[in-house]
Amino acid sequence: QSKMFTYDPGFVSTASCKSAITFIDGDQGILLYRGYPIEQLATRCDFMEVSYLLLRGELPTSTQKEQFVNAVKHHTMLHEQLIKFLSGFRRDAHPMAVMVGVVGALSAFYHDAMDVSDTLHREQSMLRLIAKLPTITAIAYKYNIGQPFVYPRNNLDFTENFLHMMFATPTEKYVPNPVIVRALDRILILHADHEQNASTSTVRLAGSSGANPFACISAGITCLWGPAHGGANEACLNMLEEIGDVSRINEYIERAKDKDDPFRLMGFGHRVYKNFDPRATLMRETCHEVLDELGLHNDRLFKLALELEKIALEDDYFIEKKLYPNVDFYSGIVQRALGIPTSMFTAIFATARTVGWVAQWNEMISDPEQKIGRPRQLYVGPPHRNIPDDHGRS
Ligand code: SDX
Repeated sequence: QSKMFTYDPGFVSTASCKSAITFIDGDQGILLYRGYPIEQLATRCDFMEVSYLLLRGELPTSTQKEQFVNAVKHHTMLHEQLIKFLSGFRRDAHPMAVMVGVVGALSAFYHDAMDVSDTLHREQSMLRLIAKLPTITAIAYKYNIGQPFVYPRNNLDFTENFLHMMFATPTEKYVPNPVIVRALDRILILHADHEQNASTSTVRLAGSSGANPFACISAGITCLWGPAHGGANEACLNMLEEIGDVSRINEYIERAKDKDDPFRLMGFGHRVYKNFDPRATLMRETCHEVLDELGLHNDRLFKLALELEKIALEDDYFIEKKLYPNVDFYSGIVQRALGIPTSMFTAIFATARTVGWVAQWNEMISDPEQKIGRPRQLYVGPPHRNIPDDHGRS
């Protein structure tokens, strides 16, 4: 085990920080949350247990879990003024635009969050963010489709409550299908944290100045939104819809290889994984389970995705560049099978990743040796020069 964490000096000099939360070995396709393999966490724990693990460093006892779940439950509601604020958006606003705005606006409601040096204030801010993101996500969805907001229910567990807020209506009783609850819970676990990815690094950099956690998480949501990052699940499903048929796969594979074509195979490739993303493997398994349980195993997009993956993995370009399916390749198909609209995929990703973001933010801000982030550059502009004497006199 100790061998796993020895780094060559070259790597040490490039590392942006030290962290004890998540470990990735991109060559071996290994992902650990606080030392536990993602494969075990995704199949033997629920999202609240994994959230506790990421925040506190250990899996909770049943008593600790009950206390944590209750603490989260008592922060799920939004201030009514925030709901008024949200109602100022256009109905067709992208849910991520609403989340960036509303999460940032939480800064205006919790003045105690401004003092990030206070441990209790930090704890309360982290609970508020974990608890309110599902409520904000669900409200953004309801607002988008013109349905009334559904308030959180304390008698439901975290993921059931999330689905209930998304899909319950005044006219029909909504009882979440256990298959859907379990699948969404697993999606949340798989997206909860991922070391120093672009959005987590954004949260850390913003937080290093002492900015309040709500503003920092809003910055993380902004970064995650990009199609090269968390927006890839939505982009991947749109790509599969555009490809439409197995007969057109090769045309898109060739486009992805063409340097002059900006098209990228969405859901393929990764900055760190040069082997299978273990989350993609788990997501594919979840896909099979959900589609079988829901009688959708002939889903055309899933079959298209399987064929696309097979062809790409046999293609010399993808083999040579070590491009494998990442977490986003199958997550859109699973979410679509769960009845979640494409426009909400990245919002669901942000809701899950908020746990990792707050854990990483807290780890950084709690470090007594922490300093403000200050990336440096290689200057490639003009050398020193003076303004000509006749400047401005012509
Ligand atoms: C996430 O960092 C994280 O941990 C992120 C994430 C998390 O949990 O936070 O894992 C979540 O963001 C997953 C990635 C989701 N994005 C996509 O699926 C979008 C499609 N993927 C690509 O845009 C791309 O693979 C990136 C952005 C993910 C990585 O791009 P890089 O940094 O260019 O990857 P690379 O250096 O390994 O690329 C090697 C080569 C390059 O070509 P050359 O410059 O060597 O000629 O492969 C090419 C790339 O252009 N390449 C692709 C490709 N991905 C990389 N070519 C075609 N299709 C692709 N998808």
